[in-house]
Amino acid sequence: MSQKGLANVTAGETALCKLGGKSEELYYRGYNACKLADKYSFEAVAFLLLKGHVPSDDEISAYTEELVLLTDIPFDVEKTLRGLPEDANAMDVLRTGVSLLGIFEPENDDYHGLVIANRLMVLLPRFLAIWRGKSVPKNASIAEAVCIACCDSDVDDVFVDAMNQSLILYAEHEFNASTFAARVTSATLSDMYSAICSAIGTLRGPLHGGANEQALYLIKSFDNIASVEEGIKQKLINKEKLMGFGHRVYKTKDPRSHKLYSILDSLPHTDLFDIAKEIERIMMDEKQLISNVDFYTAVLYEQMNIKPNLFVAIFVFGRIIGWSAHVLEQRANNRLIRPLAEYIGPDPID
Ligand code: COA
Repeated sequence: MSQKGLANVTAGETALCKLGGKSEELYYRGYNACKLADKYSFEAVAFLLLKGHVPSDDEISAYTEELVLLTDIPFDVEKTLRGLPEDANAMDVLRTGVSLLGIFEPENDDYHGLVIANRLMVLLPRFLAIWRGKSVPKNASIAEAVCIACCDSDVDDVFVDAMNQSLILYAEHEFNASTFAARVTSATLSDMYSAICSAIGTLRGPLHGGANEQALYLIKSFDNIASVEEGIKQKLINKEKLMGFGHRVYKTKDPRSHKLYSILDSLPHTDLFDIAKEIERIMMDEKQLISNVDFYTAVLYEQMNIKPNLFVAIFVFGRIIGWSAHVLEQRANNRLIRPLAEYIGPDPID
């Protein structure tokens, strides 16, 4: 018997991430992801996921210096990104940037997976910045680089800190659809760039990363709290799927959503946040559906003056680490991923 959507099927092993279970918590290599977000830089969490342990002070200083050396972009890549249409889809821009880099710096023995993982972490926000006519200083942290690339207002420390936390919460999530796509690609012994392009294409859909943009439109469709209850009930009667709610694995809470709620709670409150909280309350009362990571990131990024069509790109800037770590893990113990299908077509026809 096949399982639609591979629901509840264990499709492999990983030492990178554990989630769900009784406590419904999320752990990166054994560390609670929400607590990592409180204390660490995105770079430190990247080090943990890619190299296997929390960096010492010396290790993180050396790693940060190493990342600065990876910020140069090949002239032809930069030129192409600059020339892409202003109204292009941000995910097309990122996928194209990765593809181009793969042409100018193909993977080889010297230029191996880990180097490419670090390089993409550093360059992806810069690709977006170039396309948007902005420039990111060489020594900017990843969170700063993302803010400079995406925010349409001045970037301050409070926003950089909130961005750092949201990137950590997006960094890794076991066998989600885009990571699984990356693993399937790399299991054929394809190159790192191809695996990341598969993942970017998979993340984009509204049932996955694209949900954060759609969640904003949902929240913004209400002018005030008073109109939320009736509006949401009507959508549920109409059997609409409300983006930013529900999860394949978490059933009682998505810990990332709780963390994002507390980040927003520590910032000046906005009407949008109040409306979002009311939507969440009604979804729980009516459908027992939890908000997921994409619900409150939508509120946070709107508050940071980021255009909604860039929200899913920010997901890429975080998840690039999870994808890369999974590709490396898949390669270390590889077997082609090739499931079976249950045949439901006609019997052989003579
Ligand atoms: N809004 C309304 N109803 C929802 C819902 C949502 N966001 N998510 C799930 N449901 C309902 C389904 O309609 C279905 O109800 P039914 O049994 O009466 O038909 C039931 O809950 C199970 O949903 P299903 O889509 O089969 O669950 P899934 O495990 O296949 O899907 C998601 C998980 C995340 C794809 C799904 O919850 C969803 O589409 N959410 C919105 C997109 C989103 O926020 N994605 C980001 C995930 S981090």
